[in-house]
Amino acid sequence: PVLVIDFGAQYAQLIARRVREAQVYSEVVPHTESVKDLIARDPAAIILSGGPASVFVEGAPSVDPALFEAGVPVFGICYGYQAMARGLGGTVEATGIREFGRTELSVSGGVLHEDLPGKHPVWMSHNDSVTKAPEGFTVTASSDGAAVAGFESVERRFAGVQYHPEVGHSPHGQEVLRRFLHEIAGVKPQWTVASIVEDQVAAIRASVGDGRAICGLSGGVDSAVAAALVQRAIGDRLTCVFVDHGLLRAGERTQVERDFVAATGVNLVTVDARERFLDALAGVTDPEQKRKIIGREFIRVFEQAARDLKTEEGVDFLVQGTLYPDVVESGGGSGTANIKSHHNVGGLPDDLQFRLVEPLRWLFKDEVRKVGIELGLPETIVHRQPFPGPGLAIRIIGEVNAHNLEILRAADSIAREELTAAGLDRDIWQCPVVLLADVRSVGVQGDGRTYGHPVVLRPVSSEDAMTADWTRVPYDVLERVSTRITNEVPEVNRVVLDVTSKPPGTIEWE
Ligand code: XMP
Repeated sequence: PVLVIDFGAQYAQLIARRVREAQVYSEVVPHTESVKDLIARDPAAIILSGGPASVFVEGAPSVDPALFEAGVPVFGICYGYQAMARGLGGTVEATGIREFGRTELSVSGGVLHEDLPGKHPVWMSHNDSVTKAPEGFTVTASSDGAAVAGFESVERRFAGVQYHPEVGHSPHGQEVLRRFLHEIAGVKPQWTVASIVEDQVAAIRASVGDGRAICGLSGGVDSAVAAALVQRAIGDRLTCVFVDHGLLRAGERTQVERDFVAATGVNLVTVDARERFLDALAGVTDPEQKRKIIGREFIRVFEQAARDLKTEEGVDFLVQGTLYPDVVESGGGSGTANIKSHHNVGGLPDDLQFRLVEPLRWLFKDEVRKVGIELGLPETIVHRQPFPGPGLAIRIIGEVNAHNLEILRAADSIAREELTAAGLDRDIWQCPVVLLADVRSVGVQGDGRTYGHPVVLRPVSSEDAMTADWTRVPYDVLERVSTRITNEVPEVNRVVLDVTSKPPGTIEWE
């Protein structure tokens, strides 16, 4: 792999994604890993990422010079570039000239920037600057605030840039990364969707052997793709379990029972647990309590389903749709506040006696979608908007009961229909529709007074759901949604729009 050394900024994951877009497999590793351990992984190249610190700050992470003696190609970015300059005998100075944001870069030669416009914009973010390149290195670029904004030694297979090639604000950045990987480091572009599928199928076969596996389906893309991969590897020794907890949107169960099965031919068991969940949720309005109840009931139902499956050999493996960002983030070990107890349907019950199969643990979301397409899953599943495990229960402010669920399901399906018809599905990350069951307001319809409930539209745009902005849905689309909901769902007499970003709001209301 290409190893991206994480110096603590948020850029390392993005760099890893960009490297993979250049069809080279990459992984993120913490900067605390020793050079010996890094080399033991036989990296095709090493990329030093940007970081928040100045190289002059006490305790700033440095680079062990042994890294430069290992014969592995190295690319330094921003902080990593400066650390590289120092490690190789160049000069870094606190010049007092700070560059932040869009900056014009002047190309002065070299392989890295070959064929790029002589002057082009890049994204900078630095206080200190490299003022002298290491001995034997070619200076490839400069900017007003950085006399040496890039250097390289093709012979030693080292290069670096002061700017951030991985961000969208550096329009030629991907080309620069690609040139480093393919031209300077000599890494072959071999990481393709077909190779991912092939490698994963082989890995699953090797670990599961003759065993049997079970997989919880949520209807979401991750569990669907994980299941399809395992199915491809071990065929009908995989059984999928879909728990219908009654908190699903209109049409979701059919999507799994019909479309997913048609595409994969997987063994599917649907457990109808609607009554059980509604009973457990009766009278509960507190969001955290709802989430806990749903998590608990889900595991019970799932475990029972697993026991019911028991064949002579028993089920040994549980398939999980864990993604790479979760793996990197949980390895990071920085304690983040518990804002909501996320319940991942198909989530990991602590005391379940299974070994785990996590075929997506090295993949980013966009790669998961590509794998899904490669495996022949329908678009409706692969490009589905995220839907929370606890389902509609956390979109009803108030009590979750059959009546409220029916109202919300009707309003939600109208909103989805209209947003899809307007061609907005790819612009919108997701659009929760929230029923304020505890709120009533006065309205007028026909000749009569109404005293109904509001629903909230919550369309958001996001890259990873960590932050989000409210989507500027065209007024005429909003109008159609509003008119249809108030006409077709008698209990709803008001439609309101949520114009809060995240933070401070979360995407879901509970
Ligand atoms: P919030 O509301 O925290 O949501 O801004 C961020 C993203 O996570 C989804 N979400 C969940 N997904 N189980 C899930 O599988 C959960 O308990 C859960 N809660 C929120 C939410 O839909 C959004 O995409």
